[in-house]
Amino acid sequence: MKGKREMPDYYREVYEKWYSWFSYICDPFVKVFCFLFNGGFGGERRWRESIIEWINPQPGEKIIDVCSGTGTLSIMLAKRLGGGEVVGIEISPAQLKIARKKEKPDGLFFIEGDAQDIPLEDCYFDRGVICGALHEMPQEVRGNVLSEAYRIIRPGGKIVIIEHNKPKRKWKAGLFDFLERFNPEYPTYKNMLKCGLINEIERAGFRIVKTNTTSWEYLQIVLAER
Ligand SMILES: C[S@@+](CC[C@H](N)C(=O)[O-])C[C@H]1O[C@@H](n2cnc3c(N)ncnc32)[C@H](O)[C@@H]1O
Repeated sequence: MKGKREMPDYYREVYEKWYSWFSYICDPFVKVFCFLFNGGFGGERRWRESIIEWINPQPGEKIIDVCSGTGTLSIMLAKRLGGGEVVGIEISPAQLKIARKKEKPDGLFFIEGDAQDIPLEDCYFDRGVICGALHEMPQEVRGNVLSEAYRIIRPGGKIVIIEHNKPKRKWKAGLFDFLERFNPEYPTYKNMLKCGLINEIERAGFRIVKTNTTSWEYLQIVLAER
């Protein structure tokens, strides 16, 4: 394994302090977000199922959920896969604690660790997903995480990335910007929009296959190939 990467102070602040208490409301928060932006009750399930359609898991495959949070997507993926292996890597012990209390389908494993240094060999996975995490990271960390995802996915393997988006309509862009101002991740969110998600995914070596928006254009979903 390579040496540990640097953690910029701002970023350490976000994931250590913020998630030490936000973890408790993370799942309800996502439910409310999906209720508002994904069509009411059952919004989160529908939204996550649509992400799984993009991932398109095939029986027996190995899939990594990078920055797996409280594990909801990893669990749904492992159930859908029915065999194979799903690995969730997550840096926050508080988030992982919640994930580990949930149901554990066969073939699902969680690793506590930094997605900049994933302790698994090159080309281990067939597919990967990074859902809603890159906007929390400074530019350099985003680059490291995307390069690490590239390293552990096999040639021809696919990755799905879901991230915050800047909608074309001015009123929506203004509304989302206003909402994000309450978030401690606002500076890195703005920086990610400025740098351009697609540019950063391509810079890591991936080829973009397709992209679309979800959740009222609040989010962008990207399918890319190694
Ligand atoms: C907004 S949550 C999304 C969680 C999950 N992907 C989901 O769909 O619910 C972002 C997660 O990324 C994690 N994270 C941020 N930086 C990380 C890193 N360098 N390595 C691993 N996890 C990280 C945070 O601790 C947090 O749990």
